[in-house]
Amino acid sequence: MAARAGEATDLGNNERHQVIGGIAIDLDRTLTPEAFPRTPGTLAERSGVWRFAPLLPAIPEDKIVSRWEGNTPLYWDDRLSAYAGLTGGRFGVKHEGHNPTGSFKDRGMTVAVSHANATGASVIACASTGNTSASLASYAATAGIPAIVLIPEGKISVGKLAQTIAYGATVVQVDGDFDVALKLLRELVETENVYLANSVNPYRPEGQKTIVLELLAQLDWQVPDIIALPGGNLGNTTAFGKALTEAFQVGLIPRLPQVITVQAEGAAPFYRYFQSGFDHYEPVQAETIATAIKIGNPASVERARETIQITNGIVTAVSDAEIMDAKAQIDRAGIGCEPASAASLAGIRKLVAAGEVSPDATVVGVVTGNVLKDTDAVARYHITDEPRHPLANRPISVPATLDALKRVIHERKEEREKRKEE
Ligand code: F0G
Repeated sequence: MAARAGEATDLGNNERHQVIGGIAIDLDRTLTPEAFPRTPGTLAERSGVWRFAPLLPAIPEDKIVSRWEGNTPLYWDDRLSAYAGLTGGRFGVKHEGHNPTGSFKDRGMTVAVSHANATGASVIACASTGNTSASLASYAATAGIPAIVLIPEGKISVGKLAQTIAYGATVVQVDGDFDVALKLLRELVETENVYLANSVNPYRPEGQKTIVLELLAQLDWQVPDIIALPGGNLGNTTAFGKALTEAFQVGLIPRLPQVITVQAEGAAPFYRYFQSGFDHYEPVQAETIATAIKIGNPASVERARETIQITNGIVTAVSDAEIMDAKAQIDRAGIGCEPASAASLAGIRKLVAAGEVSPDATVVGVVTGNVLKDTDAVARYHITDEPRHPLANRPISVPATLDALKRVIHERKEEREKRKEE
């Protein structure tokens, strides 16, 4: 049933609704790109999520909580194509770090918090490695609904913690990892009247579908060969499969791209599951520098499996060193991202080298969070790590004299000329 990239796909009639777990969307109709106008002055102009309302759950407009999310850029960068081992112009970056709280989570959060708002929720809660908590804190504050977030104590970036505190959520630091925190919260919502905003809530992936829909719209509905993304709790991998199968079923695209999910080697239970032919799944104790995806027992593992199977996708894993080198490349290109986001590029580079992805493939890598999300990781890589990384860019300290400053300018000029000669 799975199509190779480039081949037509027949999903069959019995899969017309809820192909990937979540909310049933009416797919017994044909949609054209004109279904998603960006009419000036409307919510659809402001929000790159609600623009795709025909493929989202219906929520009364006066209940929608939006911070003008989405509308993120798609960059094509030849340096990154070369780094990936792809032919020039074949690597695009869909930069979700341009969302209002700096990560893709805002797309899911506008839908979940709007739903919570429409259903009169009195408290909204999530467990998080940092980005979901920052996003929930912002959207809940916008809606005027109290938010509680559970985070693994000492295991998320300071920037994300700061963001969450600043937006006013109640932050509960749990003595355990993300998996423990999510389990605790899921138990809590069974008995307490608390709205759960993690991606096990089907409204979250609904919003995250719009990463793919907006990307396709930016490509004039021409399908790339591959969409690559980092995988942690696997809500996004789930959302991508749902978006693609729905876009296919309503006639917006003629085929499905391959979805490639990239995990960190130390947090790769989905990769191991894939390697077993999706026969044997086992959670792991997660450890990686990319704290956003430091997850050992992803909540959406089965729904994400469907995405990989339906798109004939691949799951791979990359080391922390590969992640940080790819991140340095993305940063150096002027784009910038947090460590987890760079897994997309690192994974493609690995698969091209292994011959599993053709150098001629057109690939879009989703960059999930911005460079300021984890400044500690930047400082370690560029300033303190020994031995020095090849791309390390150390700040220079000088006395406050014009001479010292001129020396720096000349030294840099000489270095550049030397590099040109080599
Ligand atoms: N990239 C970033 C920057 C993330 O924050 C996350 C997940 C992922 C990738 C992975 O996405 O979980 O859908 O597979 N962050 C969650 C959080 C877990 O709590 O912020 P996924």
